[in-house]
Amino acid sequence: MVRPMTSEIRRIGDDELPAFIESMSAGFLERPDVAKVAEQVKPFWDLDRTWAAYDEARIVGTFRTWATELTVPGCARLSGAAVTNVTVLPTHRRRGLLSAMVAAEHGAIRERGEAVGLLWASEYPIYGRFGYGPGCRDTILSIETKRTSFHGEAAGRVELAEPDATSRDAIKAVFEAWRVRQPGEIRRRDVGWEFDLGLLESAWEPRWKGFLALHRNDGGDVDGYVRYRAEGKWEKHQPRNILNVDELHALNDEAYQDLWRFLTEIDWVATVKAERRSPSERLPWLLTNARAATSSDPGETIWVRLFDIPRALDARSYEREGSVVLEIVDSEAPGGRTRVHLEAGPSGAQARSTKRSPDLTLDVSALGAAYLGGARLRDAAVARGVDEHRLGALAEATALFRTLDEPWCSTFF
Ligand SMILES: CC(C)(COP(=O)(O)OP(=O)(O)OC[C@H]1O[C@@H](n2cnc3c(N)ncnc32)[C@H](O)[C@@H]1OP(=O)(O)O)[C@@H](O)C(=O)NCCC(=O)NCCS
Repeated sequence: MVRPMTSEIRRIGDDELPAFIESMSAGFLERPDVAKVAEQVKPFWDLDRTWAAYDEARIVGTFRTWATELTVPGCARLSGAAVTNVTVLPTHRRRGLLSAMVAAEHGAIRERGEAVGLLWASEYPIYGRFGYGPGCRDTILSIETKRTSFHGEAAGRVELAEPDATSRDAIKAVFEAWRVRQPGEIRRRDVGWEFDLGLLESAWEPRWKGFLALHRNDGGDVDGYVRYRAEGKWEKHQPRNILNVDELHALNDEAYQDLWRFLTEIDWVATVKAERRSPSERLPWLLTNARAATSSDPGETIWVRLFDIPRALDARSYEREGSVVLEIVDSEAPGGRTRVHLEAGPSGAQARSTKRSPDLTLDVSALGAAYLGGARLRDAAVARGVDEHRLGALAEATALFRTLDEPWCSTFF
């Protein structure tokens, strides 16, 4: 139990779910049917990971994690805690309640032995102080369908499918096969698929009512899918509809290309728009006019916090050779610092705790940002300061962590 000022931080009981949801909804400025939400989440929320801040008997702050797995460069997977439902009531802000809830669950994460913490930040300035750094980027991709066509021919078959248990299992299998090959992607919760396909109505938002298209290879196996919704738009008696892509995942180049081609060739559609796409998406290169595809609203997706630093550094692969002793400033580490010697190269890596003198001193949030290979360590380190004790060590470590392929997390939570 952690006590900031007069408030108490503790895990909630079953019977406190409605009060937790009530408080959280007020923090998020929402007005859902609280009883309905509580009933719906009860079977799948792990209350061992669900923390509240109390002002006397009243819940005034909320914080929760769920168990996931993160694919890291080289495609090893690390156990992770996905942080969500973080709020403090407007009447209780800036008194240290978030900090106290973070301390409580971070302690529990360490006890469970989870290597990383992950979250989507509502506002950029909140989480750096808690050791999280922005590890993946995203963008909104828009294609003006009338200004381009695709190189080459369609290779497989795209079919519309009714959202049901069979199609759900088919797309889950595609996602599962895909996410273990995509650094930055995480394991999803089973219940999410029910909401994503409109098989269950979420108590938070209207039931999904879109279209599902599956791609099959020559053997008839599903190897890609897209979920999308149409936004009606007519101008001067001409159809200018917008297709909003909720997600598109494919296991190979053919399925990827065929699914995008399918979307852009749908009658009445002038624009195909997809949120939460990777900034290094290959799509423009497949078009006869790459300028028909534009990116907008760049941002970050998951923020990464390393808890077990040697394990995390050991697990990922490295494309270059390097040897560096990192001193990592982490207020949660005994003595506020931890030191790791990383020796890495394309043939393998070893990271172990050390007492050797450091080449670099940097904040744990910078390491989190650079860990998946997307952000440059030297850029990420600027935010909270970096000390280079050996000339060239920062450039060496920056090159060591960077990967050719950009990490990408398409899963919002
Ligand atoms: C974000 C939120 C949970 C912060 O709760 P809180 O109890 O006020 O946070 P704390 O008092 O523990 O703040 C700790 C530190 O973070 C800073 N901080 C907290 N929220 C911040 C924000 N939104 N922007 C910038 N700094 C912030 C505080 O100023 C404080 O800094 P200090 O240590 O230098 O004094 C709360 O403001 C909230 O509910 N916001 C709306 C919902 C939301 O955005 N939730 C996050 C979802 S990812």
